[in-house]
Amino acid sequence: MSKRRIAVIPGDGIGPEITKATIAILEATGFEAEWTYLDAGLGAIEKGLEAMPETTIDAVREIGVALKGPTTTPSGGGHSSANVTLRRRLDLFANVRPAQTLPGVKGPFADKDIDLIIVRENTEDLYAGIEYQAHPDVAQAIKVITRPGCRRLVKYSFELAVRQGRHRVTAVHKANIMKLTDGMFLEEFYKVAQDYPQIKADDVIVDNCCMQLVTRPEQFDVLVTENLYGDIVSDLCAGLVGGLGLAPGANIGENCAVFEAVHGSAPDIAGRGVANPTALLLSAVMMLRHLGFNAQADRITHSVQRVCADGHCLTIDLGGKAGTREYTEEIIVQAG
Ligand SMILES: NC(=O)c1ccc[n+]([C@@H]2O[C@H](COP(=O)([O-])OP(=O)(O)OC[C@H]3O[C@@H](n4cnc5c(N)ncnc54)[C@H](O)[C@@H]3O)[C@@H](O)[C@H]2O)c1
Repeated sequence: MSKRRIAVIPGDGIGPEITKATIAILEATGFEAEWTYLDAGLGAIEKGLEAMPETTIDAVREIGVALKGPTTTPSGGGHSSANVTLRRRLDLFANVRPAQTLPGVKGPFADKDIDLIIVRENTEDLYAGIEYQAHPDVAQAIKVITRPGCRRLVKYSFELAVRQGRHRVTAVHKANIMKLTDGMFLEEFYKVAQDYPQIKADDVIVDNCCMQLVTRPEQFDVLVTENLYGDIVSDLCAGLVGGLGLAPGANIGENCAVFEAVHGSAPDIAGRGVANPTALLLSAVMMLRHLGFNAQADRITHSVQRVCADGHCLTIDLGGKAGTREYTEEIIVQAG
């Protein structure tokens, strides 16, 4: 039988280090793939290409599944973000970001039983990139929210809740102020919710949501929200469960899925062999489940839980002393 093809974008900064670690762990569980390596980010720009080259977009579209390391977006210089381009061009409308307490991971919320999923809209909102200089002293940006965009995102979040046996979906918004845009999002949320009477549907204003997340995070189940709120709230949730080194994500479209960590390219620690690969590894676990390789996904998940609970081989961001290589070897041993 031919191997499953998977596109790999190692990316910039710590990207290549954590991608190598993740693929080593996947292969150690017996998962075989034909990995197709693609350019993107600063590395692509340095080769004279676009931050997200057409060849990379075409290859991901054709292969249908990609594992992506973080890419650096240079400030200024007119380069658009590789991530925003990929998500918009492949219409990866849902950004799924789970946040789950791991045993043994220390932090102010370690005693809370957090197990929530943020479903963030990925192509609209202020990230549509429509900015202009209205006057030398006034810059403006346009927030784009569409009814079909809201509908498909909300439907995806309820379907996800059903698939995962979850009980509640909460819309996060600011409809009290943004009457038309967030008002439309909320209206569509409650319309779609009628098709899922078995799931509790409610809503919360984004500022109150942040306060609730740091006081009673365990109350939340699935949160569905627009692009900007989702970007911010998902980093907050990553902080609740141990930091960016542990926060996975998936960008889902009708025909394509790109799996990547929430964090960026971490230039401050790149090349030092200390990056925590767990966020990308757990993104790869989401990829395995997407492809139906549930046994391998379970083995890796249990291994991460065991290594974290044991606490002897944690990376520096989690208060340990292990480098990327030692941690990766330990995950492989425990997954054995
Ligand atoms: N999906 C993506 O490709 C993506 C996402 C966010 C930011 N970025 C880009 O990444 C670059 C750097 O952004 P930033 O510094 O704001 O955010 P960042 O997420 O790269 O880093 C924030 C902090 O978290 C730490 N950190 C992040 N991931 C870690 C890991 N796996 N292990 C240990 N520590 C980790 C870093 O060392 C840093 O101190 C920017 O160019 C930004 O545009 C890319």
